[in-house]
Amino acid sequence: MNWTPNSWRDFPILQQPTYNDASALSDVCEKLGEFPPLVFSDEVECLKQNLAEVAAGKAFILQGGDCAESFQEFSENHVQSMVKVMLQMAVTLTFAGRCPVVKIGRMAGQFAKPRSADSEEIDGVSLPSFRGDSVNGIEFTADAREPDPDRMLQSYHQSAATMNLVRALTRGGFASLKNVKEWNSAAVEDTALGKKYGDITSRIHDSLEFMEACGINVDDFSKLQGATIYTSHEALLLEYEQALLSQDNGKWYDLSAHMLWIGERTRQLDHAHVEFLRGVENPIGVKVGPTADPDEIAKLAELLNPDNTPGKLIFITRVGADGAYEKLLNLFQKMASKNQNVIWICDPMHGNTVKASSGYKTRKFDDVMSEVKAFFKAHKAVGTWPGGVHLEMTGKDVTECTGGAFNVSDNQLGDCYETQCDPRLNATQSLELAFLIAEELKG
Ligand code: PEP
Ligand code: CO
Repeated sequence: MNWTPNSWRDFPILQQPTYNDASALSDVCEKLGEFPPLVFSDEVECLKQNLAEVAAGKAFILQGGDCAESFQEFSENHVQSMVKVMLQMAVTLTFAGRCPVVKIGRMAGQFAKPRSADSEEIDGVSLPSFRGDSVNGIEFTADAREPDPDRMLQSYHQSAATMNLVRALTRGGFASLKNVKEWNSAAVEDTALGKKYGDITSRIHDSLEFMEACGINVDDFSKLQGATIYTSHEALLLEYEQALLSQDNGKWYDLSAHMLWIGERTRQLDHAHVEFLRGVENPIGVKVGPTADPDEIAKLAELLNPDNTPGKLIFITRVGADGAYEKLLNLFQKMASKNQNVIWICDPMHGNTVKASSGYKTRKFDDVMSEVKAFFKAHKAVGTWPGGVHLEMTGKDVTECTGGAFNVSDNQLGDCYETQCDPRLNATQSLELAFLIAEELKG
């Protein structure tokens, strides 16, 4: 298929930093190429098997995490609270929605961001835009905004440390179903939502005790003893992604993460990102915005999944709440007639970003929910499977999105606004959304 690890270099490419020192860049890539992989090819294959279940309408994807991970906001607590909220949402979806959940974090590698403008201007001074911690610094100084290839090494190391903690937390103990109560966050615990979750945890406890009373040792079942959280990020910096390629049994894997996605701004059929990712075995996601042409989406499916393997390709729709049902219905209908194996998941975040009167970039919880509802409704109308959701969320008690059970208002956004990039659902809003999605799933 004329693909090589380097073939993307012959195609136009968007959203890349301009490095001034080419030899520093190649030194970094050479180093990265010698580092151990962050994930393993057999894990990637396991994810593909899990995703084949989703493609068959038997499981649901929960993909979520920070919009951008940051070097500064990196701690045990940060990673652990993300793992907690993912486990909590997943158990809610599994229990209340009666559906197995494949968990994929936007974590351990989500450091590079596409931007709407190449430069940012403040008080007449124009500097390169912030493109994520693996590219440059967020501070508005010429020094910080200069792209620095060494930052890719730091993202690699932070990803490795994050991965290590995720593996430890999910292997047993903490992620065992016996600990389902512990996944509640302090912010949620004493609220009506916390009680609703408490009801689920009591019922799970009762079921486990009942099984033990019947002589079944629940410790023998690895699925009850731990969990799997796969990793993913936007494969934006192709220098980095290429450095982490690895060949196994003649096939190429991008071992920077289990799953990789192509953003809305870089999914052109004849550009470098599609060229690079068509050559790897990993499951691939593609963001699909409101103006996407269904014929182009079908061509992407042909290019990225030429063997039509179920579970290989995920389209992540992010059309915005306004008119979502009609847009999605049209897309799903046209694609359904093509017999391509694709998974559809809903990103109800990126089409719903607005600027609050306070100046903060925010999203309304109601818009997020309304896009999710439109997604389910459109699938129901076409007879296709709503395969999952893709969220920007955090286990912390931030005030970045408005609305939800505690009705975060525009003028509260400044209380705890920590994101480096887009606004995330906080722990309470995430759990609330999980309950609402569970209703849709059951319905
Ligand atoms: C993102 O997922 O953070 C993002 C930039 O999304 P999109 O490509 O859909 O705009
Ligand atoms: Co984002």
